[in-house]
Amino acid sequence: MSAPETFTLGGDLEVRRLGFGAMRITGPGVWGEPDDPAAARLLLRRVVEAGVNLIDTADSYGPEVSENLIAEALHPYPEGLVIATKGGLTRPGPGRWEPNCRPERLKRCCEDSLRRLKLERIDVYQLHTVDRKVPIEDSIAALAELQAEGKIRHVGVSNVGGEELERARAIVEIVSVQNRYNLTDRSSEEVLGVCERDGLGFVPFFPLATGNLARSGGMLDQVGRAHGATPAQVALAWLIGHSPVILPIPGTSSIEHFEENLQAAQLELSDSEAEALAQATS
Ligand SMILES: NC(=O)c1ccc[n+]([C@@H]2O[C@H](COP(=O)([O-])OP(=O)(O)OC[C@H]3O[C@@H](n4cnc5c(N)ncnc54)[C@H](OP(=O)(O)O)[C@@H]3O)[C@@H](O)[C@H]2O)c1
Repeated sequence: MSAPETFTLGGDLEVRRLGFGAMRITGPGVWGEPDDPAAARLLLRRVVEAGVNLIDTADSYGPEVSENLIAEALHPYPEGLVIATKGGLTRPGPGRWEPNCRPERLKRCCEDSLRRLKLERIDVYQLHTVDRKVPIEDSIAALAELQAEGKIRHVGVSNVGGEELERARAIVEIVSVQNRYNLTDRSSEEVLGVCERDGLGFVPFFPLATGNLARSGGMLDQVGRAHGATPAQVALAWLIGHSPVILPIPGTSSIEHFEENLQAAQLELSDSEAEALAQATS
């Protein structure tokens, strides 16, 4: 049976199951402007033109750069485009990420994202991480307040374990979880199971293991050859086939790679191929 083409987030946001991760449109180390901002804007326009309607970003990508580019390239936004952004990480420098999920800071971050994205309400606002210095209940309560004020439509979480997810869900409805997950890292399988059981979207970050799965040979190449597909396409197709709640958001700075990744949504692996890939890469 072929995998469903769309998933409905929070009961009212229907998205295609292959989204776009907008972290790679920034400078090296996810820091500063990209070398060619015009090319990044062109890529974003192509993403939407190709029918992708889930774009993942965060205030910390750049910082600010990814959200600014999205607004510059795409505002006014087409009907049905879901921009999922995040708050909760600070950026002291390139490649450095430090949590700060204090309620007052999250509220400020959300206001800043609204301004940068030129939105009155953010469709999906995700707590980027769990700050060990702040109970997750306090961070999530801040997002619940923003939701009550109409500034957030739905709340998501990221980088959470099963217990943290439950604690968050006790405060407010959580519609999605964004955790690291790909063929070679399935440590979030249990959280994925909860998402499947309860109909939450599961957004796997590093779906290509930061590009390694696009390069890797072996079983990915073997399965790809049988379908005329590249290893990156096989890795993404495996995710899409693995669970109907999975919404991969491969990140790229290149239109060519984007087009390649998009084709993965059409690639159907057999059960035995999917199983062989899971065995070979675990
Ligand atoms: N919640 C979190 O904590 C968190 C953490 C990390 C990422 N994320 C989100 O998840 C998204 C995806 O993660 P990611 O971008 O880090 O990792 P990824 O999608 O696993 O891999 C991206 C890397 O793979 C390369 N690539 C993409 N498509 C390719 C292809 N077809 N062939 C060869 N190479 C290819 C890209 O380089 P090119 O630019 O050269 O294509 C880029 O360096 C991010 O964009 C971001 O939105 C969230």
